[in-house]
Amino acid sequence: MTEIDLSDPDTYLEGPPHDYFTELRASDPVHWQPTGDGGGYWAVLKHADVETVARQPLLFSSAARGVVLEDLDGERLEQMRGMLLAMDPPKHRQVRKPLTPRLTPRAVSGLADSIRGICADIFDSVEGREEVEFVNEVAGPLPTRVVGALMGLPRADWERIHHLAERVTHGQDPDYAEDSGGAATATTEMGAYAYDFAVSRAGREPDGEGDLTDALLAVMDPVAFATLFIQLVTAGQDTTQTMLSSGLLALLDHPDQLAALRNNPSRIPAAVEEIVRWANPLHYFRRTAMTATELRGTKIRKGDAVAMYYTSCNRDEDVFADSQAFDITRTPNKHLSFGQAEHFCVGVHLARLEGRIFYEQLLKRYTTIEQAGAPRRLRSNLNNSYKEMKVALKPR
Ligand code: HEM
Repeated sequence: MTEIDLSDPDTYLEGPPHDYFTELRASDPVHWQPTGDGGGYWAVLKHADVETVARQPLLFSSAARGVVLEDLDGERLEQMRGMLLAMDPPKHRQVRKPLTPRLTPRAVSGLADSIRGICADIFDSVEGREEVEFVNEVAGPLPTRVVGALMGLPRADWERIHHLAERVTHGQDPDYAEDSGGAATATTEMGAYAYDFAVSRAGREPDGEGDLTDALLAVMDPVAFATLFIQLVTAGQDTTQTMLSSGLLALLDHPDQLAALRNNPSRIPAAVEEIVRWANPLHYFRRTAMTATELRGTKIRKGDAVAMYYTSCNRDEDVFADSQAFDITRTPNKHLSFGQAEHFCVGVHLARLEGRIFYEQLLKRYTTIEQAGAPRRLRSNLNNSYKEMKVALKPR
């Protein structure tokens, strides 16, 4: 078996190495991946083992060295530790608490009309064009605008926030890395924006229940708000954009399933789930072992980095029948693309709602959708994303 470097962003340029993951799941499911700097990490590839790691947040810490593979310098690590994603219990639970009631299925359902309106605006903006670049012109604007609506941000600022979010998440791709400052500067800029926004809300009497910003500012100061804001905007941007664009590509590559969806739109929620399993927006998240332990018989040393590979565990043949197949009727569908346990995606219900409404509106509005050129993938070892996807959208 030829070794493939799972930490190298170039590895994913032609798509994830699914055959390699399949071989490793059978022969070396807790795989030591050396890295160029003389170090390395454990790539955890089986569904059950990813669950084991995710369910023990004190043994497998998010805060110790952060959740990405690259060891961050002091300032970046501190910045990351301010994020929910990189906190451990008990602090994590305390910070997450005010968010969850505002992001339940019932709470986010109140945004459905607003999401429909945002989709219509986006489709109107490309009306009459023969060809559109689906990732950035159609899928990309949705998540920031929805978070903008959720948090009551002025519309005039949505575009700016969107570009900042891209700079935070796409640093490994040369097309984005050179975009006026790296991830750290973009994070600082977004934090400053959020802080000023919070201060501008001082003394405001919310209408009715108010928006998410009102709810958060009732229990935290503008500095804490700014940090949570960065997390909400960045965690939901590339992931949701990918769900919408990679999902379209999966459907175009499986025309029988696209036709089935058009004939029976009540299948859209299950299709969204399968899109998120099969084209998982994130490849992995990382933890750090706080004491020596074992995983499937493999000894993990204290301090070792451990990466939970969603790209592999979502295709684990012990859990999913015909696991490599894209099947919009798959049920049950216990994929781990939204994580699991302590850090389970707090935006999951919003993401699902966005996916459902987006595909409903897209398929209703355009009777024919065709690829208009080869899509280009983002260079990243974390984001399983495209950066360009030209399509022709033909309305009824
Ligand atoms: C298809 C879309 C999405 C995917 C695939 C996704 C994936 C994930 C994953 C895998 C985690 C777990 C992180 C870990 O275990 O370290 C996570 C956490 C998180 N997600 Fe999402 N996400 C999506 C959409 C969203 C949206 C729309 C929002 C915000 C509105 C959001 C906000 C968050 C936040 C704040 C966390 C941290 C939760 C915590 O640490 O307690 N996500 N997401």
